[in-house]
Amino acid sequence: MEIKGVIETLREELNKYLYDYMEGKGSYNKRVYEAMQYSLDAGGKRIRPLLFLLTYKLYKTDCNEVMDIAAAIEMIHTYSLIHDDLPAMDNDDLRRGKPTNHKVFGEAIAVLAGDGLLNEAMSLMFRHCIGKKDNAIRACSIISESAGADGMVGGQTVDILSENTKIPIDQLYYMHSKKTGALIKGSIISAAVYAGASKAEIDKLSYYGEKLGLAFQIKDDILDLTGDTALLGKNIKSDLNNNKTTFISTYGINKCKEMCNSITSECIGVLNGMSVDTSYLKDLTSFLLNREK
Ligand code: IPE
Ligand code: IPE
Ligand code: MG
Ligand code: MG
Ligand code: MG
Repeated sequence: MEIKGVIETLREELNKYLYDYMEGKGSYNKRVYEAMQYSLDAGGKRIRPLLFLLTYKLYKTDCNEVMDIAAAIEMIHTYSLIHDDLPAMDNDDLRRGKPTNHKVFGEAIAVLAGDGLLNEAMSLMFRHCIGKKDNAIRACSIISESAGADGMVGGQTVDILSENTKIPIDQLYYMHSKKTGALIKGSIISAAVYAGASKAEIDKLSYYGEKLGLAFQIKDDILDLTGDTALLGKNIKSDLNNNKTTFISTYGINKCKEMCNSITSECIGVLNGMSVDTSYLKDLTSFLLNREK
């Protein structure tokens, strides 16, 4: 199967898993499942679960064994987007090409839908671990930590505190490496740990994940300024409107494009230096640099 075929197939399998998981759930609480499913099925790129599955695939053949963990990662990410868009945070109206969760379901249900997705993700990972060896538990623990107060939530906290003020460069790097980088890196390392990669390979993937997360958020900041809403599926200039500190506000657009290019090359370099076949991961990495959504 050609490279694009493998990635596309995994994405479709994941999408089916997520759809089936939520479909028909709930009784008196049905509204919260509808809100969860609305954002989950709105058409995200599925980058984090794909990174998890493709990293697992470096060492193992059957990705379906860990599709539930991949789904959990996407649930965590989707919850973070629902909360990120709330009026109390970035106050955005458009996400994944559709009105944001709170625009459709109201703020209270949107908060609960985010909470519901996060808890469902944890339940999925706990259930996966029942009867499994330590590696499974280690992997799930890496994922849950990467989403927490020393991970994504920590980065989001600094992001909010950075509004209407200037933050030092080291704090900017902290913010990016945590709010976006943590879950991206966690998705990669958790898969490597689960699949039994050597310490040396995990170190390389860890460096790759850190750099990829940084490049990903710089690209997100670039697209916030120069992207096309119709392609991006979210309104542009959100960062400007919220007076955020970003890589763009700090370094300017040209320097950011240059950084994105050079960090991506560094990522490819790390992948080239590995003993396993990393062509799928390289393909995804290049896609991320050139993406318009
Ligand atoms: C957007 O993430 C939010 C960030 C962490 C920068 P994605 O660009 O992966 O969004 P979706 O999942 O494709 O909608
Ligand atoms: C959000 O960063 C990172 C998250 C953890 C959700 P942004 O606020 O820049 O993400 P977008 O641009 O709204 O997708
Ligand atoms: Mg934000
Ligand atoms: Mg936002
Ligand atoms: Mg953004």
